[in-house]
Amino acid sequence: HTQLRGDQVVVVSNREPYIHDRDEDRIVIRRPASGLVTAVEPIMRACSGTWIAHGSGSADREVVDSGDRIAVPPGHHDYSLRRIWLSQEEERGYYYGFANEGMWPLCHVAHVRPIFRESDWEAYKAVNRRFADAVIAEARSDDPVVLVQDYHFALLPAMIREKLPQATILTFWHIPWPNPESFGICPWRREILQGLLGSTILGFHTRFHCKNFIETVDRFLEARIEHEHAIISHGDKETLVESYPISIEWPHPLESSGWPSISDCRRRIAELLGLAGETCLAVGVDRFDYTKGIVERLHAVERLLEKRPEWIGRFVFVQVASPTRSMLDEYRDFQGLVGRLVDRINARFGTLEYIPIRLLAAHHEHRELIELYRAANICVVTSLHDGMNLVCKEFVAARDDDQGVLVLSRFAGASREMREALIVNPYHVEETADALHQAATMSSEEQRERMSSLRHTVSEFNVFRWAGRMLSDAARLRLRTRVEARV
Ligand code: G6P
Repeated sequence: HTQLRGDQVVVVSNREPYIHDRDEDRIVIRRPASGLVTAVEPIMRACSGTWIAHGSGSADREVVDSGDRIAVPPGHHDYSLRRIWLSQEEERGYYYGFANEGMWPLCHVAHVRPIFRESDWEAYKAVNRRFADAVIAEARSDDPVVLVQDYHFALLPAMIREKLPQATILTFWHIPWPNPESFGICPWRREILQGLLGSTILGFHTRFHCKNFIETVDRFLEARIEHEHAIISHGDKETLVESYPISIEWPHPLESSGWPSISDCRRRIAELLGLAGETCLAVGVDRFDYTKGIVERLHAVERLLEKRPEWIGRFVFVQVASPTRSMLDEYRDFQGLVGRLVDRINARFGTLEYIPIRLLAAHHEHRELIELYRAANICVVTSLHDGMNLVCKEFVAARDDDQGVLVLSRFAGASREMREALIVNPYHVEETADALHQAATMSSEEQRERMSSLRHTVSEFNVFRWAGRMLSDAARLRLRTRVEARV
């Protein structure tokens, strides 16, 4: 992509890829639990440029230079991270409020009622404006390539477009897009759609989300839609709406050769959790979020132990849940609910030696997760609705022994690609419990067949494929704009 030099690339997201926190007299660097960061960070390491994000760590300000920027990854300095500081009020209205109490439940349609406050909307607009100003300040030319990430910035594309009409703006929506009826309850639906249509390309994970978006525009705006090519003309601008299934960076052989062996992982985890030798270990790894179907999967584990008591004492489920957005009641209540459910099931089936469910409600580093994935017999992903879900891809990437079974929700975008998983409807407890049993009793031969095929898919359709397709579409459209400008 000779047209897309790294120094012309600007990424904007709410979450930053590296967080500096103060831990007494030390500064520690954390990698946030975010599918967006997992996917976009390797791309920025490869192509350089500038990443603009909200500075959220307690020591973030201490490590930046006077331009509020820092070279990252720490020690490598492949690209630059420019931090934007938000006041508590801005963060409350824009991030906790409109983005996470409004847009998040609105788009996931997960039976949590979206909250739309006028004051949150005002904060959302103002913060979008602040990030737009930062993009404009960072642009080295009048036609930069700007990669706008996610539902925190629906208004940003049009704001950038207004100041930099020649910019190539690629917006990627990392969460689902609902149908027009569901989206239509948002009081500012027109503004949001108009904002997004400032993009040159608007990407979703699946064709289904693209279709929902196009229908939503059709319902609420005056726009011309070319269905065959999925191009929307609004005003004098065209937006290509395309699906780009996101993925992970496939581990480099140098990295995976350094992983502890499967048997070492198994031994360490068994020691840590006090598991008996023959235990079937199932794991779930999520942000502690109500969209992830954690309650539903706990019910499925309970049902498994109830209907197949032979598993009592031999089946353990470990849930890693990394606390997230805990300022919000909905999240705090949910964490309480899950804790109580775990206690109830453990009291029902547990003994002094046997604890069926372990809830590890803390942030875990990637290295620890790799160990857990490698120790597990089963990985359970039961999102009620999920744009893609990268945990299932990380699990598969960790299993270079071709063993282990993935149980995957049909409502995660990943289920479209990862067909060899055991696909379940997480709302159907019986079906999920049966899938757990099937996974726990699957022959090693069948595991190998399914896992090697899954590994083939994910390694092939890795995150560079995702970015490569998007960037080459961008390069093509950018060239076209230039040619048309000459005429
Ligand atoms: C999802 C969103 C991301 C977000 C991540 C973590 O993956 O699509 O935009 O960064 O969750 O959530 P948080 O609110 O902690 O950034």
